[in-house]
Amino acid sequence: MDIEFEVKYGLDGVAVAISSISCVDGEKGKLVYRGFEIEDLIQNSNFEETAYLIWFGSLPNENELDFLISMLSKKRELPNQIIEMMKLFPKNSHPMEVLRSVVSMLGMYSKKENSTFENAINLTAKIPTIIAYWYRIRNDLPLIKPKESLKHSENFLYMMFGKIPEHFNLFDKALILHEEQGMNASTFASTVTASTLSDIYSIITTAIGTLKGPLHGGANEKVLKMFDEIGSIENVEFYINNLIEKKEKIMGFGHRIYKTYDPRAKILKNWIKEIFINNNIKYFEIALKVEEIVVNKFKDKKIYPNVDFYSGILYNYFGIPKEFFTPIFAMARIVGWTAHAMEYCKNNRIFRPKAIYNGPKNLKYKEVKGVE
Ligand code: SDX
Repeated sequence: MDIEFEVKYGLDGVAVAISSISCVDGEKGKLVYRGFEIEDLIQNSNFEETAYLIWFGSLPNENELDFLISMLSKKRELPNQIIEMMKLFPKNSHPMEVLRSVVSMLGMYSKKENSTFENAINLTAKIPTIIAYWYRIRNDLPLIKPKESLKHSENFLYMMFGKIPEHFNLFDKALILHEEQGMNASTFASTVTASTLSDIYSIITTAIGTLKGPLHGGANEKVLKMFDEIGSIENVEFYINNLIEKKEKIMGFGHRIYKTYDPRAKILKNWIKEIFINNNIKYFEIALKVEEIVVNKFKDKKIYPNVDFYSGILYNYFGIPKEFFTPIFAMARIVGWTAHAMEYCKNNRIFRPKAIYNGPKNLKYKEVKGVE
């Protein structure tokens, strides 16, 4: 066995790039996009302005922001052929399967001469439409066409439901929370694809496939399923103890980097507490009880709620079905994925780690087959 290499399972603690896009401070529970703390951006910015910041490294002036908003709003519609193909998909297809498939198909309809950034804008503009159209198609509802006059997040909610709900600005801010998070699994996987100089549609198809996993972006949907299974505050302790006995991961808790409260979970929890307290928002009481019990049982392992624990409660308030929670994660993270792909390809190498071989050696075919 090779002895000069040590396996770093899950690449724990391994840096694979130098990046100026974001900083995730796991000990302090801090998230910074291009030097701005996430709380500052949530307070003062919006999805499009923060996207510009993540892509270009500085806040846009008024003309730059207007130009980005107009580029995004003009590119929302899908090619007719793709809409017709979506109508043939099995109605029980998971929205993440549909998103992964349609993003891959979009590559065949994009102009090959487009720059990576033009394709990044194209995908950022179209992913909300794919999600909303699938919601309408699978529920046998007429499509609601994008409205150029609406901002990114407003237009998505309009295409889903034909109206813009109260507190929609929180949905826009929730997208900011999900736009970027350093070298997480889906960003790393898509950066590997980018390192081969593959095309942006292949890069983002990789990212969506990786985000779909329940240990990553798929957790937000599982959290609400868990709340439904628990059913009432009285059942929380028994349910959590049962998961622990079965050594099952508790969805919405833990994080490879944050060894304290995920700042995004803190922000989401505060919104729900402050803004919705009079609405008695569904699941919140159960969530608080789950958090109290899990944090107490795992305090030696520093396991706290992560971004996926509270996000679904907010999306559920807007009437979004839980199978659409992870696609909404993707609709925001498209910005971080494309930013890292563009940054990495400036001057970095194709990823090619090692595996330490521990299989058989010196076998001979004829000896094994017992033939002369
Ligand atoms: C996201 O990387 C990112 O930044 C991701 C993300 C982003 O914005 O891109 O933040 C989004 O993916 C958030 C995470 C969503 N996933 C979940 O909520 C699924 C449940 N969480 C776990 O699967 C887990 O916490 C992970 C996958 C998030 C992290 O896995 P790690 O890095 O392997 O966890 P760890 O090394 O910190 O675990 C230390 C110990 C282990 O026990 P021991 O082997 O030491 O006995 O804590 C245990 C783990 O088994 N543990 C849990 C747990 N999370 C960690 N035990 C029960 N339930 C959990 N949720």
